[in-house]
Amino acid sequence: MKHILLAGATGYLGGYIARELKARGFHLTLIVRSARKLEKSGLSADRVIEGDLRDEATYFDAFDQIDAVISTVGITRQRDGLSYMDVDYGINWMILQNAERHTVKKFIYVSVLHGEALRHLAICDAKERFVDLLRQSSVESTVIRPSGFFSDMGEFFDMAKRGRVYLFGDGSVRANPIHGADLAKLCVDALQLREQTLEAGGPEILSHNTIAKLAFLAADEPVRITHIPDWVRRALLNVLPLVMTKARFGPIAFFLNVMAMQMRAPCYGHKSLEEHFKKMALEHDGSNTGKKAPA
Ligand SMILES: NC(=O)c1ccc[n+]([C@@H]2O[C@H](COP(=O)([O-])OP(=O)(O)OC[C@H]3O[C@@H](n4cnc5c(N)ncnc54)[C@H](OP(=O)(O)O)[C@@H]3O)[C@@H](O)[C@H]2O)c1
Repeated sequence: MKHILLAGATGYLGGYIARELKARGFHLTLIVRSARKLEKSGLSADRVIEGDLRDEATYFDAFDQIDAVISTVGITRQRDGLSYMDVDYGINWMILQNAERHTVKKFIYVSVLHGEALRHLAICDAKERFVDLLRQSSVESTVIRPSGFFSDMGEFFDMAKRGRVYLFGDGSVRANPIHGADLAKLCVDALQLREQTLEAGGPEILSHNTIAKLAFLAADEPVRITHIPDWVRRALLNVLPLVMTKARFGPIAFFLNVMAMQMRAPCYGHKSLEEHFKKMALEHDGSNTGKKAPA
């Protein structure tokens, strides 16, 4: 497989995948909704197609010569008024239909760890409905199921910097979040693998208490953790949908669920969370003093 179409390059994981594909010498087509955002990230490709991914015209000649597709498209922090069904399901379905029409050989899709068990959540329902379509498709596929990303662990660091980390329960729940660069390697490896599903986490399995302590260490703040009884989390899951829009509640519901789950998956990669927090601390100090943190 030589020529890869990547959807999602302007996002956290997609950016690392684009760099990994380039580093390994693949011919790369990116399909993005904002070429300006892509340019700002410093990424380039052999071909960049800009357009609304819900518009069939965007795909007009995008799949010419394409051997495989990788999609990380999904709603995380976007506030476009679109639903998970519009994006995580709908856009990926459009990409898949085009892949089928052009007899693409492989489709790599990024869902979430335990997505099938979390189908009662709107985000997982949309993602897993797409996985169902992928399973029925003529295109060979691998679904990547990552635990948390380092990009989301920043919340721990931000709380530590403010002097207190709040955790639900006793903080013993464990997870192995993964750095985007480490996960990107697996996503690119998957182009050659036969597995239908790959669960993936980072190299360290850590309790929430340990993650909080690492964040305090990097923030150079004394450890102050408040454990909120788990019934509060469960009550929030019942009350918040009554006072919030579905779009606002979606990511919160996901967060409140996974905070109480063991998000442990087979370990990949080398990047440590301690180093990631230290880098965040340098960037934080750099932005306060006007100096730039070393890369
Ligand atoms: N964060 C985690 O801990 C975690 C864990 C497991 C799985 N995942 C899943 O992994 C995937 C990648 O995550 P990530 O952190 O890389 O997310 P991200 O940084 O938000 O990137 C998502 C990508 O999807 C694109 N996108 C979103 N809405 C779109 C729309 N309406 N039209 C066109 N493109 C759209 C974004 O484009 P723009 O840049 O233009 O917004 C971006 O390129 C997501 O599906 C996420 O749910 C995340």
